[in-house]
Amino acid sequence: MGLNAKARVTLHDKTFELMIPHEELDRHIEVIAKRINQDYKDRPTPIILGILNGSFMFMADLMKKIEFNCEIQFVKVASYTGTDSSGCVKQLIGLNGCIEGRDIIIVEDIVDTGGSIEHLMNLLNEHKAGSIAVATMFYKPESYNKSYEIKYPAMNIGNEFIVGYGLDYDQLGRNLKDIFVIVNE
Ligand code: IMP
Ligand code: MG
Repeated sequence: MGLNAKARVTLHDKTFELMIPHEELDRHIEVIAKRINQDYKDRPTPIILGILNGSFMFMADLMKKIEFNCEIQFVKVASYTGTDSSGCVKQLIGLNGCIEGRDIIIVEDIVDTGGSIEHLMNLLNEHKAGSIAVATMFYKPESYNKSYEIKYPAMNIGNEFIVGYGLDYDQLGRNLKDIFVIVNE
């Protein structure tokens, strides 16, 4: 590696280079944590809902900065072939107890087109959540094409493909503590 070359990792058939070190991620998390603390400090106990698998690292770091009492749950959105108009049905796995009337803060790793978050919102609305807000580590505003407000994006990025900090390329790279971007060779 040359003196100024960036650290690289190989995952399957692709190469990625260092883009955002963990310290910078943490500074951005601090900013949204402050806003969330301010917005929820006088609310009844919210449920912070981590979406697996990608959110686990962001969830851990964000929660350490949350100062109000909260419940924490993790869920997985599973899709299976079914009979709705698109032929694909989504189901929430792992939701414990009643969320009717409760304030929910969804914690996502990344919001890209918004398709995943829209499905999730629909499912949570079926469960009659009282309010729903979205916190996401990364937000791709140029790609987002839905109307739900993404209220707490820690960092905006372009349309590049990134891995690390919970995000994967075909299941690899989730364990990297920094963010790496794909190198087009
Ligand atoms: P959506 O387009 O907002 O529904 O995002 C779908 C999913 O694509 C996200 O939850 C991620 O799992 C994945 N995704 C989108 N962009 C990236 C990326 O840059 N790196 C890794 N996964 C991504
Ligand atoms: Mg995801």
